[in-house]
Amino acid sequence: MTGSSLKDCSTCTACELASNRQTVVISRGNPDADVMLIGEAPGAQEDVQGIPFVGRSGRALDQLLQEVDLDPSRDLYICNAIKCRPPKNRRPKKAELASCRSWLDLQLAAVDPKVIVLTGATAVEAILGIKGGMTQLRGQWQSWNGRSVMPIFHPSYLLRNPSKAAGAPLDLTRQDLTAVRRRLCER
Ligand code: URA
Ligand code: SF4
Repeated sequence: MTGSSLKDCSTCTACELASNRQTVVISRGNPDADVMLIGEAPGAQEDVQGIPFVGRSGRALDQLLQEVDLDPSRDLYICNAIKCRPPKNRRPKKAELASCRSWLDLQLAAVDPKVIVLTGATAVEAILGIKGGMTQLRGQWQSWNGRSVMPIFHPSYLLRNPSKAAGAPLDLTRQDLTAVRRRLCER
């Protein structure tokens, strides 16, 4: 069992990822935000700095958010399904996701977001329990414990698919994030 308070997360050793990490990467942004964005796991930069989404993916994410008038430090609380970097950025294992889940649940309870944005298949699987291609899943509102959930492409996928054409992944993600911003204005 992991601890019961989020402040214990930074010393967690509940799964094997503890042995290779430099820092436990918990969150950035606003703990009072209406939107909680959940990614996969920390990468190299995040592991060093102890802050989620600060590498290339993070810069791409922040830029997209700003393009749709969402301020990453005011309008969102940003975290990952897994708090420690997997070796060579491999995908988190099921057991690791399960071990780390209690921290994510503490974050969800503390932030109590109106909308959850899931970036990439790992976050979708962690929260919604569904496996599938993001091309099918993205852009479709889902519901989880009374909260609106929007799956979007992972920013690392957008970096590999940089086309600016209408209907390309970047454009679709901008549409999905615009839908998120609009939902915040609804009751
Ligand atoms: N950086 C993160 O913090 N999370 C990701 O999912 C990818 C990069
Ligand atoms: Fe603990 Fe999560 Fe890090 Fe595993 S990944 S050691 S469960 S904080």
